[in-house]
Amino acid sequence: MILEPVVGNMGCVPPDRNYLERVRALCDRHGALLIFDEVMTGSRVARGGAQQLFGIKPDLTVLGKIIGGGMPLAAYGGRRDVMSVISPLGPVYQAGTLSGNPVAVAAALATIKHLDDALYHRLDDWTGKLQDGLEAILREKGVPGVVQRVGSMWTLFFTEKESVRSWDDAKTCDTALFGRYHAAMLEKGVYLPPSQFEAAFVSAAHGPKELDQTLTAARAAIA
Ligand SMILES: Cc1ncc(COP(=O)(O)O)c(C=O)c1O
Repeated sequence: MILEPVVGNMGCVPPDRNYLERVRALCDRHGALLIFDEVMTGSRVARGGAQQLFGIKPDLTVLGKIIGGGMPLAAYGGRRDVMSVISPLGPVYQAGTLSGNPVAVAAALATIKHLDDALYHRLDDWTGKLQDGLEAILREKGVPGVVQRVGSMWTLFFTEKESVRSWDDAKTCDTALFGRYHAAMLEKGVYLPPSQFEAAFVSAAHGPKELDQTLTAARAAIA
């Protein structure tokens, strides 16, 4: 079973309470591997990803994005008995032109040194303020919408629903309205992911100035 423990690829959809625990239990009962795709959530929702945040240990983990510190890099790892099937320990040959690229790996190692608790507190605080600010603007302008987030990962869904918990919920979003919002934000210098169904991220480079700028742009765009 492979899944995004916090879904990013329909917009930011946190797991329902106990969902991951129950998936873990089902995989254990049936002897199936549980694989977390933490390409988005790894080192983002917490230093140790969603598995740290929710306390669920998958058998394998897939990582990308943040781990390269801006360079193209991906990685996977997990249970020793599973990983030892991979060459050179085991018979499964796995390689690629850019595997273990030294520049990307150096960037990754340098990035990991900056991922301390203070950074995650700052990101959570910043994104929480963004969420509160955007929700206040939606209410003020009478536009139906909800802002969902886990740490610094978030999405503004233009929907009448109180929350988006599934793809069926996400499909109720007004994508035409999102398109107009996206264009208006872009015109004001805020480059959001270009789809209602992609999560947005706050980075360590964002500070109070960018928060103000984003909320000012959103107030005008939503109006
Ligand atoms: C959650 C998730 N998994 C996997 C991928 C694919 O990663 P890659 O392009 O490195 O194959 C993406 C790409 O954006 C993603 O968002």
